[in-house]
Amino acid sequence: PVVGIPLPHESATLHVTGEALYTDDLVGRLTGALHAWPVQAPHTHALVTSLRPEKAYEVPGVVRVLTAEDVPGINDAGVKHDEPLFPTEVMFHGHAVCWVLGETLEAARLGAAAVEVDYEPLPSLVTVQEAIAAESFQGTPRSLSRGDAGAALKDAAHVFEGEFEFAGQEHFYLETHVSLALVDEGGQVLVHSSTQHPSETQEIVGHVLGVPSHEVTVQCLRMGGAFGGKEMQPHGYAAIAALGARLTGRPVRLRLNRTQDITLSGKRHGFHSTWRAGFDDDGHIVALEATLTADGGWSLDLSEPVLARALCHIDNAYWVPNIRVDGRVARTNKTSQTAFRGFGGPQGMLVMEDLLGRCAPLLGIDPIELRRRNFYQQGQTTPYGQEVRQADRLAACWDQVAASGEVARRRAEIADFNRRHPHTKRGLAMTPVKFGISFNLTAFNQAGALVHVYKDGSVLINHGGTEMGQGLHTKMLQVAATALGLPLSRVRLAPTRTDKVPNTSATAASSGADLNGAAIKNACEQIRERLVQVGGGMLGISPHDVRIEDGVVRGLSPASGEVGWNELVNTAYHQRVQLWAAGFYRTEGLHWDPTVMQGEPFKYFANGVAASEVEVDGFTGAYTLRRVDIVHDVGDSLSPLIDIGQIEGGFVQGAGWLTLEDLRWDTSDGPHRGRLATQAASTYKLPSFSEMPEDFRVKLLEKAHEEGAVYGSKAVGEPPLMLAFSVREALREAAAAFGPSGTSVDLASPATPEAVYWALDKARTPQ
Ligand code: MTE
Ligand code: MOS
Repeated sequence: PVVGIPLPHESATLHVTGEALYTDDLVGRLTGALHAWPVQAPHTHALVTSLRPEKAYEVPGVVRVLTAEDVPGINDAGVKHDEPLFPTEVMFHGHAVCWVLGETLEAARLGAAAVEVDYEPLPSLVTVQEAIAAESFQGTPRSLSRGDAGAALKDAAHVFEGEFEFAGQEHFYLETHVSLALVDEGGQVLVHSSTQHPSETQEIVGHVLGVPSHEVTVQCLRMGGAFGGKEMQPHGYAAIAALGARLTGRPVRLRLNRTQDITLSGKRHGFHSTWRAGFDDDGHIVALEATLTADGGWSLDLSEPVLARALCHIDNAYWVPNIRVDGRVARTNKTSQTAFRGFGGPQGMLVMEDLLGRCAPLLGIDPIELRRRNFYQQGQTTPYGQEVRQADRLAACWDQVAASGEVARRRAEIADFNRRHPHTKRGLAMTPVKFGISFNLTAFNQAGALVHVYKDGSVLINHGGTEMGQGLHTKMLQVAATALGLPLSRVRLAPTRTDKVPNTSATAASSGADLNGAAIKNACEQIRERLVQVGGGMLGISPHDVRIEDGVVRGLSPASGEVGWNELVNTAYHQRVQLWAAGFYRTEGLHWDPTVMQGEPFKYFANGVAASEVEVDGFTGAYTLRRVDIVHDVGDSLSPLIDIGQIEGGFVQGAGWLTLEDLRWDTSDGPHRGRLATQAASTYKLPSFSEMPEDFRVKLLEKAHEEGAVYGSKAVGEPPLMLAFSVREALREAAAAFGPSGTSVDLASPATPEAVYWALDKARTPQ
């Protein structure tokens, strides 16, 4: 079978030669496209008291200024109806109040500068702490509980408490937000959009234009990265482009430059948390109480489901018998924070991993031992009531990392190194990941596909998932070739379009391959079922005995002879057999009650373990990542190279979030209050080659067949990001090594070199 073969990404050659087309590349193939530029407010919170576009029209090349009056439908870009597309109240610094269309980008830019806007500034809330103090919240607060955490904390042998605020993260996809809209004769629009969720982009464009969904088609060829940032945020840009195209009859291109993208679009949520944790004398967690406050920014966006996933992942891999976690979303005058790889899971788990790292020395228990001791046992349930059916797999990953990473030997060497080096210390930490796969909202767990077999035997597949670099299309080609019994070369994949497969879910929650793969397999099996009937007739055997492998059709015994795939298809056509099929899949067995936060929201858990070793310089806090060992459970991999790439990329992106990337908003009372100070790569440090682990060993857990998932595979996209907790915990270990043994270290997140310096300096300074 073609699944399971290590193949490069289907577009790898196009990516590296620059031939791969992205949405903005299509502009050059059109004539007369207009360019869009936003008018961004220089206030963090203000009323728009007057907006006068007249001067913009004096700029040569300005064609149209789009304002609220132009909206024929609903002036809103969100599914929650709290995101006015053309706002009368500026909610964050840089909020776009209107858009200018020009013959050239430069004309649009100059036109935007000429638009006159009057503002009445209002008081603003910039930090999550300010929002908490002002009781500025949005959405529905949620609580997750089991047992009696309060009583268990009273009786616990050891109780610790803490407060922990940690930062969000900029997506920094290489391709910024972009939409290109075209109208045809009836005014119907086609929007090429860099979107993870074409169906929802279609829906919002329809709302804004005041037209039904069948008048709007959204296509996504591929994205140059998305990471959750294009799950909900593309809609408004697509709507602006579509509106402009409708009004002018010309193609409209809206592509944000990097600064616009960073200042306009939402990021990973930073969180504030307070917690109390109780342990018994053996270090078993007996109770946890926590309050999580997500910094949602100015509108809800995906903040509620992100929060729900945070609550459902605070346990990570650990059995917590008594627990109560309260979650809420703060409303602040910042960009509207949104999905980002892990979707709140990383934030929930960070609270747990941080507290374990802080408490281990206070309990006098080695952190590796403390973590292992608290793992779920087979069959225990999570706080939301789902059984952990594969606790043994996580244990297997753990043991394999400990063994192949020679963790015990290396820790002894590290202890020795640290004794001999007063100004340089090393640390090694191991952390687990258990991550629930499926959308919490049960309805989203469905997918469709459309498979065509043409008369010449070639195959074209369409499915509802989008390609953002994660290799979904590679896997889908492998699934289709396997399900039909063909070599990969016979199958081609067409761009994702809402007029091919409707009502799709976002390609998100790492479930793209699970859902769309199953839908494609379903479509292919329908076609195959019809074809074996034809093949049986051709070979003179029972259809049950017909096998199609590698494009050759045979019976069970060689005596029955063989025919080629093309001949089979051609015969089927002449017998008037339908050679195409729509496929559908829904994940069975899921249920979820969001009001009480109980149910079986996940089909299964993805498991993984990492061990990371760092070296920290005591004079500067600068560090290097010396070695990383990972064992990750992807079931029976559909595409091992793709999966290893996802694990490496996810891990490095997580390490960026936790140790480098430092979003800074101006929190002063000065004139730039609320402005994002880190607006470019010059001030926002992303992981690059020099931060890659010097020695990086990634293995897939073997014999990991996942019953009931497509070809036994498991989702991979998000879970590996959280393996990067091991880097942060290793930094904590190294910082602690500057102090007397048993030092508990508080570490900021991100643990930048500066933060690590302050942590180690505190550790080595006698209290
Ligand atoms: N990998 C690349 N190269 N680029 C991306 O944008 N997004 C991640 C992950 N891996 C992303 C990526 C996120 S947030 C998700 S949810 C999954 O891919 C989505 O794709 P999948 O469901 O096909 O795994
Ligand atoms: Mo991923 S954050 O679910 O798009």
